[in-house]
Amino acid sequence: MKIIRSLAELRETLSVRDKVRSLVPTMGYLHEGHASLIRDARRESEQVCVNIFVNPLQFNNARDFETYPVSEDHDRAICEEAGADIVFVPTASEMLGAGPALQMAMPALTKNLCGPFRPGHFEGVLLIVAKLFHLFLPHKAYFGKKDYQQFRVIQRMVEDLSFPIDIIGCETIREADGLAMSSRNKNLKPEHREQAALMIRGFRIAEKAFNNGNANPADLAEIAQDVMLTGPDNRVEYTQVVDPETLEVLQEIEGDFVIAAAMHCGEVRLIDNLLIRGG
Ligand code: PAF
Repeated sequence: MKIIRSLAELRETLSVRDKVRSLVPTMGYLHEGHASLIRDARRESEQVCVNIFVNPLQFNNARDFETYPVSEDHDRAICEEAGADIVFVPTASEMLGAGPALQMAMPALTKNLCGPFRPGHFEGVLLIVAKLFHLFLPHKAYFGKKDYQQFRVIQRMVEDLSFPIDIIGCETIREADGLAMSSRNKNLKPEHREQAALMIRGFRIAEKAFNNGNANPADLAEIAQDVMLTGPDNRVEYTQVVDPETLEVLQEIEGDFVIAAAMHCGEVRLIDNLLIRGG
């Protein structure tokens, strides 16, 4: 496994695109969710690249950026074990120089869910992911569906810009109690850990209500949210029932839908979602 830190070396190493190349973009502090993306990439391609870069452009909150966990040795071991060939770990100045003048935005897919609560976030994600795609020239790129809105935004960018890249969305990897794996879970205080799992529990109770005949999106969001709020340290930012493609908030349910939420558990902001089959 090769560790690369400069853009020049990356370009040189990847100049020949003769193997099916995959990219797993990450911000480090890797966990089993990332390992599973890397293993999928390993199975489905010949050259597996992982990018580790805590992208300052996508943090709308300075404290979130400062407390974002970093651990290169730990990440390197996970990449190695999961079968990566190349791991790119640039510094911020290597990656961004003095900062980009370009801006990218996708208002249609970011007006709901996290968009209004994280101004500038998806713009920062779009820009860095577009740059990564140019740098790595992958045939496939792997993203976890825990960040469902991010997955859709990137899928749509690739469509709009005709990047020759398959965007592969992978199912969320969960702890035994259902909590979605996330690098931010590390910052949860022990007394908040159980309360964090109330988000997925809420979605599953809403799913049961739907299967029992309640097809009112606002009711389902409220059912899930009420479960989350049984945790005394939980503060819900939003719970929404949206169309899986357009991410429009649904007034009525006609097919599959996604129930998604963002919740502060103590000081940690967590997101999760569940795709529910409508028909
Ligand atoms: O999901 C993430 O970790 C990041 O948003 C990504 C896609 C690596 C872009 O920085």
